[in-house]
Amino acid sequence: METWVVPINPRHPEAGAITQGALLLRAGELVAFPTETVYGLGADALRPEAVRKIFEVKGRPPDNPIIVHIADRDLLRELAQKVPPQAFLLTGHFWPGPLTLVLPRSAAVPDEVTGGLDTLAVRMPAHPVALALIREAGAPVAAPSANRSGRPSPTTAAHVLQDLDGRIPLILDGGPTEIGVESTVLDLTGPTPVLLRPGGVTLEALQAVVGPVETKPVEGLRRRSPGTRYRHYQPQARTVLVVDPTPDLTREVIAAHRAHGQRVGLIQRGRALKATPSGIRVEVLPEEVAGYAQGLFAALRALDEAGVDVIVVEGVPPQGLGLAVMDRLRRAASEIVEGT
Ligand code: TXA
Ligand code: MG
Repeated sequence: METWVVPINPRHPEAGAITQGALLLRAGELVAFPTETVYGLGADALRPEAVRKIFEVKGRPPDNPIIVHIADRDLLRELAQKVPPQAFLLTGHFWPGPLTLVLPRSAAVPDEVTGGLDTLAVRMPAHPVALALIREAGAPVAAPSANRSGRPSPTTAAHVLQDLDGRIPLILDGGPTEIGVESTVLDLTGPTPVLLRPGGVTLEALQAVVGPVETKPVEGLRRRSPGTRYRHYQPQARTVLVVDPTPDLTREVIAAHRAHGQRVGLIQRGRALKATPSGIRVEVLPEEVAGYAQGLFAALRALDEAGVDVIVVEGVPPQGLGLAVMDRLRRAASEIVEGT
């Protein structure tokens, strides 16, 4: 299969490109498209055979459920068996946006989407291309991140092509995504909301709207969020996370790995190192966390492409968007240096 990459204006999507995507979705095919978080790999959520293609193309474990994307709030009542008052409060504040809600599902949702769970994950993305595509398709769109399973989520169309070239018919290229980490996943099936995955909507912002949020999923819930069981965001290189970096500590970690003759890449936060050791490949990310989050997955992919053996990555404080960043880095890391 040939994969077409069609440029699309992220603010004012051209009708032609949207129609092309929507026709493919209606025909049961897959379309990759930008959201405000990362690129998604979409299928008509109400067609089981289309949803099954997502699992094949990604190499995704069949029991890992998929988020359903909607463009119309009213659809929530059709897809969820029960919509608690908290859900209306949260969607009022954060939709469209990077907040995914887990709710009891209705019979309208195929088992393929939920991995056989009795719950549904749903969000309304804040991206003109995603919203126009869903509207034109006339159906809710099931979409995981558009990477091969276990790879960092794609934040550009080029990343999607790296992973899925020849496996899907169309990528809508709306440029780099704004947020760079995936949506926040919040479970609303119990009395207290439970944070299953930190993401684009911060924990602090959620708490300001709904009050207490449980952040340590108990074992039962962990089983109900199968995605958290699998290793994620794994570059090919060994990744070493320096949680609380200082220039000296980062230099020490780099030196220790170079001593073993390994090629080292560094993801540096701001310009913390006065002098970068020569002969190592460096990706510099902004000091400020929004910029860091936006560039993180691209930096991991770039160092992998460069063929380094070890990626040393400087962490950020775990507040605000930093909580999502550190969650992804801890999952990616095969070694964690907690520091002093
Ligand atoms: O920002 C995002 O959320 C992106 C864009 C494309 O919308 N999507 C995304 O999808 O990150 P994915 O499949 O890569 O991650 C979805 C996460 C997984 O950890 C999955 O296990 C969890 O959501 N999830 C999906 N349905 C669930 C459910 N019914 N109960 C609990 N967790 C669920
Ligand atoms: Mg993913």
